[in-house]
Amino acid sequence: MKIIIDTDPGQDDAAAIMLALGSPEIELLGITAVAGNVPLELTARNARIICEMSGRTDIKVYAGADRPLGRPLVTAEHVHGKTGLDGPELFEPSFALQDKHAVDFIVDTLMSEPAGTVTLCPIGPLTNIALALQREPAIAGRIQQIVLMGGGYFEQGNVTPSAEFNIYVDPEAAALVFACGAPIVMMPLDVTHKVLTTKSRIDRIRQIDNRAARAMTEMLLFFERFDEEKYGTDGGPLHDPTTIAWLLKPELFSGRECNVEIETTSDLTRGATVVDWWGVTDRAKNALVLRDVDADGFFELLTNRLQNLGAQT
Ligand code: BDR
Ligand code: CA
Repeated sequence: MKIIIDTDPGQDDAAAIMLALGSPEIELLGITAVAGNVPLELTARNARIICEMSGRTDIKVYAGADRPLGRPLVTAEHVHGKTGLDGPELFEPSFALQDKHAVDFIVDTLMSEPAGTVTLCPIGPLTNIALALQREPAIAGRIQQIVLMGGGYFEQGNVTPSAEFNIYVDPEAAALVFACGAPIVMMPLDVTHKVLTTKSRIDRIRQIDNRAARAMTEMLLFFERFDEEKYGTDGGPLHDPTTIAWLLKPELFSGRECNVEIETTSDLTRGATVVDWWGVTDRAKNALVLRDVDADGFFELLTNRLQNLGAQT
């Protein structure tokens, strides 16, 4: 499976990247960074730090959009910490960003690889993907699928009562992506709020003897504190790696094809994902919306794959 991860790391983004790097079924063509949890300069740095922690300084990392299509950037340092990746000791990555802009990389890759062979995994605001679709609309028909973390229906929102962070930050970009015609798999809060970093799950990751898993343990311990307090749970939701888990083991998830529209105008509900779960409109189905997950199966997969990451230092 050839994939591009579009990301704003983020500790849970780090888990997604590490899960992909630890999985031989996946060929990670590149990582494209976008502004989101923290500004672009930090997400582009964090993406490289995560690769280096995983012993993979060969991965190509591209910087993309530094702000949403038409709004000021909203960030989430209160969740992820000042660096976006608080928890482990961070360092200057030893390898540089690619010169190419992330949007050019996405377009060029989709236009040069055989049609229907490249999957996009956006796990931050959808700005880079929307810009790529605007720059070269022909990519829509060449994308194998877009497997994204974003939105919520039964769980509604996490950053406002009705909006999930990734969609809220750039709702215009999300509207463009959901209308593009490529196959979309949506991993909403309805799923991610069911995969909690409980103490026993973190303990299993802690026992893995490699640099990536040690860093992941420290990231998870930092990351969960905000949501544990907010939701009163043992552990916090681990959002982004569910996208990669779906590629590896779709049988862990269930959902249905629905129409999904994005609210862009209302001040009250901006960024809401309006999912026609019950099929009460005749609007065309444009996404597979997932709702349930085998959470133990998911953590089993993540833990196993983290063991594959080298760098025994
Ligand atoms: C999403 O927002 C970010 O803070 C996380 O990394 C995840 O992608 C969850 O709402
Ligand atoms: Ca993210």
